Amino acid sequence: MQLSLFGVLNAYEAGAQVNAQAYERLGRDLGIKAEAWAERQPVGTAGQPHSPLKRRVRWYQQTLKRLGLLEPVAGKRGVWRPTAAGRRTIEQRQQDLEPCAPGLMQLGFSTELGMALWADCKDAFSRLDEPVHLVLTSPPYPLARQRDYGGPERAEYVDWLCTCLEPVVARLASGGSLFLSVSNDIFETGSPARSLYRERLVLALHERLGLHKMDEWIWHNPSKAPGPVAWASKRRVQVNTAWEPIYWFSNDPQACFADNRRVLQPHSEKHARLIASGGTKTAAVFADGANRRRAGAFGAQTAGRIPRNLITVPHNCPSQTALRAWAKAEGIPIHGATMPLALAEHVVRFASEPGQLVADPFGGWATTALAAELNLRRWVITERMRAYLYASQWRMALSSQQPARAKG
Ligand SMILES: C[S@@+](CC[C@H](N)C(=O)[O-])C[C@H]1O[C@@H](n2cnc3c(N)ncnc32)[C@H](O)[C@@H]1O
Repeated sequence: MQLSLFGVLNAYEAGAQVNAQAYERLGRDLGIKAEAWAERQPVGTAGQPHSPLKRRVRWYQQTLKRLGLLEPVAGKRGVWRPTAAGRRTIEQRQQDLEPCAPGLMQLGFSTELGMALWADCKDAFSRLDEPVHLVLTSPPYPLARQRDYGGPERAEYVDWLCTCLEPVVARLASGGSLFLSVSNDIFETGSPARSLYRERLVLALHERLGLHKMDEWIWHNPSKAPGPVAWASKRRVQVNTAWEPIYWFSNDPQACFADNRRVLQPHSEKHARLIASGGTKTAAVFADGANRRRAGAFGAQTAGRIPRNLITVPHNCPSQTALRAWAKAEGIPIHGATMPLALAEHVVRFASEPGQLVADPFGGWATTALAAELNLRRWVITERMRAYLYASQWRMALSSQQPARAKG
């Protein structure tokens, strides 16, 4: 097994250790042979021989120090000990997915802007007494074979999801939004026909929770794996899929405070040239008079292009890839269904203002939380599986070294 951040932290399980003790413990835990510790390589301009392995351990010590999990013992050279947070991390670390007990609610981790709760979303949000401005979430899908984190029976899906969302929707500020990422690729059992659960879900969210459908955005995912295999590759009766729906609801459409000026995109070069030339030269009539264009249209300088409701973002975003690699090295469960950070940031900026509260009842690897954090929104998420929160904590801590995005 290779050296890892948690491996190094775990070497301090018994408390303060001099470096030699920590190396010994790491050697035992990870099966590192004495020769590997003894190996020396020249370093720096002076070419002094140093142990590359020990230098890596010391680099991890510094990273753990920055994360507030390990600290040097004052006045004792080469002696380190876990902080209180580091001790909790060692104790709480779970190799396996462990769902929280019913009714239990524990703080997973927090930042100045938000908190991640190890809790069932129904329990936690029914106890929250603050208005939520945006809910951005991706629940477990009604899959025939559920993912590692489990999910409801397909027949109960709509009822289950409404029950889960009800407490957080009840806390939506007037004009707040719910963005819901679900799957289009759910089929009737043994059939190439798609399930109508999406239609039932939209109606239920309107009728049971009083939400209004603002739109159904298309998330075009160019790196989506080819499928449905049974119907597109084998029977050839379907084509490959390339998109997922992102439903957008509001509890009060007239008061909705989403604002596309927060997500304007750069004009295309062609359009920038059109603006610079004073816009269209002649008036024109299109579509039997349904569309008219005056001379000089598109001549005004504008701050940017209003985005369309089709968003192209590959699912394998750099932020997730880095976390996945880290989780693999640490030997902790990898989340199999995360959202790209760029998509979450787009929604967060569009549908909330800095300082407002963003919630995700199905927190996963905290993509919504991170998007909110980077864009200076407050946030609260819940997640049933402690192991996902553990990875999220690292993701958040490592991302905190990035600068926050611009104000919008
Ligand atoms: C599709 S994943 C969300 C992934 C997330 N959007 C991300 O990018 O990391 C759904 C998550 O909901 C969690 N979950 C399922 N039921 C839950 C419940 N009742 N309360 C809280 N979390 C739940 C699952 O453990 C899983 O991590």
